[in-house]
Amino acid sequence: MSIDAFALAEDLATQGQSHLLAGIDALPAEQRQTYLDRLAAVDWEELSHELPPPAAEEVGPSRVIDRAERQERQAALTEAGLAAYGAGQVAVLMVAGGMGSRLGFSGPKGCFEVGAHSGKSIYQIQAEKVLDAGRRHQCRIPFLVMTSPVTDAETREFFAANEYFGLEAEQLRFFSQGTVPSLSRSGQALLAGPGQLLENPDGHGGCFTALVGSGNLQRLRDEGIEYLVYIQVDNLLVPVDDPLLVGAAALEQAEVVTKVLAKAHPDEKVGHLVRVGEADRIIEYTELSPEDTRRRGADGELIYRWGSPAMHCWRVSFLSRLAEQGFRPPLHRSAKPLKAWVDGALNSVDGWKSERFIFDLIPEAKISIGLVIDRDDEFAPVKNAEGADSPDSARQLVSDCHRRWLEAAGVRVQLSEGQLIEISPRFAGSLASFQQRWDQRLQEVIGDYYLEGDQR
Ligand code: UTP
Repeated sequence: MSIDAFALAEDLATQGQSHLLAGIDALPAEQRQTYLDRLAAVDWEELSHELPPPAAEEVGPSRVIDRAERQERQAALTEAGLAAYGAGQVAVLMVAGGMGSRLGFSGPKGCFEVGAHSGKSIYQIQAEKVLDAGRRHQCRIPFLVMTSPVTDAETREFFAANEYFGLEAEQLRFFSQGTVPSLSRSGQALLAGPGQLLENPDGHGGCFTALVGSGNLQRLRDEGIEYLVYIQVDNLLVPVDDPLLVGAAALEQAEVVTKVLAKAHPDEKVGHLVRVGEADRIIEYTELSPEDTRRRGADGELIYRWGSPAMHCWRVSFLSRLAEQGFRPPLHRSAKPLKAWVDGALNSVDGWKSERFIFDLIPEAKISIGLVIDRDDEFAPVKNAEGADSPDSARQLVSDCHRRWLEAAGVRVQLSEGQLIEISPRFAGSLASFQQRWDQRLQEVIGDYYLEGDQR
């Protein structure tokens, strides 16, 4: 054992993780060294902490641009956002490092073929939205894709095999997030095999550290990018061409704008944008009791009324300030069934997965606001294999949205049960883009309909 290994042994003993050193002498020298290096790199102290939820009495409503204010200021907000896109100040960051366990698909979720008629993958749909936004704003929008060790190689290969879906190589920037050890319920780190920690990607919040560590944040600064539109791979309707969002950040001098949805009912399982003391933050439904979610503020409204669909606009200068401060989002634990190496074999274990959440950056912002969106226009999540939030439900939501685009353009639409509409982002990736491009080619759509586009 080297001196470092002794220090490591002491550290592990302090953190109750000494079991990780059992049997390491039997490992081949190279594997032993890799394993010890990893053990030494983990912040065990951080892993052992649980964050206390804020005291209920401190919680109040956040400043949110609600529907009425949005309508009133729509033109001014949109104009400011259009100016930012037009000046090449906007980039898009898509997080795609999750394990997608609920979907049960073997590859990265982004490779899942979801297009109702096109059979396009989720990656293709999101990439083509970026392509369309660049066409509309006459600029090359940087598209950052965060992967994890679970999704990195397959994601890169998939994009390359599909010629980056028409995007320029310099627009597309892949970088991988880190991992953290998974724990047993008693807090002991688990193994994936002899001399190999069981680890999971460190959550969507890992994108902050990875953005900094990969040099991508500095690159955005060097390019004069001021606004980063944050999206999650698994929302098919998430806009990337979003002048209203970016304009809200610009005109409100906000360091972060968080989109919010009016909750369908108090018990809806979402994170909530609220104000705690002097700062905004998101409080997860798991941290609240049914009584909490029904609490009302001084204005008589529910305090936890704004749900977060995980869409934000971050100011690059804000992220840079946090990076300079050495900020790192904290870890949160959630109970998960895991497969771990126990007693010489892989076994099912009830454990803890620790993850960082992107929204833990919000309390650090000097100015944070919420922006209400219409759920049906922007939210079609793919989480589960079947039922709610599944590929089927998301395809239906996309079809319903695209139907509204057509109907707003005067097209009469008649669909029977199971018939779907799909408009390719190569034709239009947003309503504004559709309105620009639609050429009255049809007066009516009867039955399944697919509209592809020739980009440029
Ligand atoms: P989810 O929390 O829904 O997790 O991720 P998931 O991995 O996709 O699915 P399950 O829970 O295993 O079924 C929301 C978004 O955050 C990304 C996902 O790729 C998705 O876009 N994410 C999640 C990461 O990028 N990294 C992570 O470590 C976790």
